Amino acid sequence: MSSYFTGVTVVTAIDGNGRPHGMTCSSLTSVTLTPPTLQVCLDVRSGTLAALREQGTFAVNLLHEGSREAAETFASARPDRFELVTWRPSKRHGLPWLCDDSYAMAECRVVDTLTVGDHVAVFGRPVGVENGVGRPLLYGRRGFTGVPADAIAS
Ligand SMILES: Cc1cc2nc3c(=O)[nH]c(=O)nc-3n(C[C@H](O)[C@H](O)[C@H](O)COP(=O)(O)O)c2cc1C
Repeated sequence: MSSYFTGVTVVTAIDGNGRPHGMTCSSLTSVTLTPPTLQVCLDVRSGTLAALREQGTFAVNLLHEGSREAAETFASARPDRFELVTWRPSKRHGLPWLCDDSYAMAECRVVDTLTVGDHVAVFGRPVGVENGVGRPLLYGRRGFTGVPADAIAS
């Protein structure tokens, strides 16, 4: 699967104490249009998954091509991840929106989960969207890249 290129997201959540959590995640999939449903697959040991389960909400930040550093930060074990980025709470659920690093963000309500091996597939219903600017960051063959300049308009 390492040769399969995807976009890059940071999935964020807030725990019961109001503390932000977030992790880099490339397993985002659009599942159904009716009703709108998306899916992310998170490691069962993930602290972000625990926070997401506590509150039943999460956000998916779609990273732009200038956000490689943020992608690496949120894939690391650093406890101070949110001090290294600019973020603000989303309108509906107050979930961390990485407004400088993402070109769009969807806040979601958890509608189902399915544990498969060492990951949990989390199904979310988008309930709000924030829009930023930029072109997508891509990941594949264990490295980051961007979309060729002439491939998309913006
Ligand atoms: C490009 C990229 C994509 C990743 N995608 C996922 C993913 O889809 N699911 C997952 O569980 N971990 C994924 N990871 C690994 C997590 O970001 C990493 O384990 C993170 O430290 C977990 O944070 P947490 O345990 O504090 O929640 C990815 C890492 C990178 C660099």
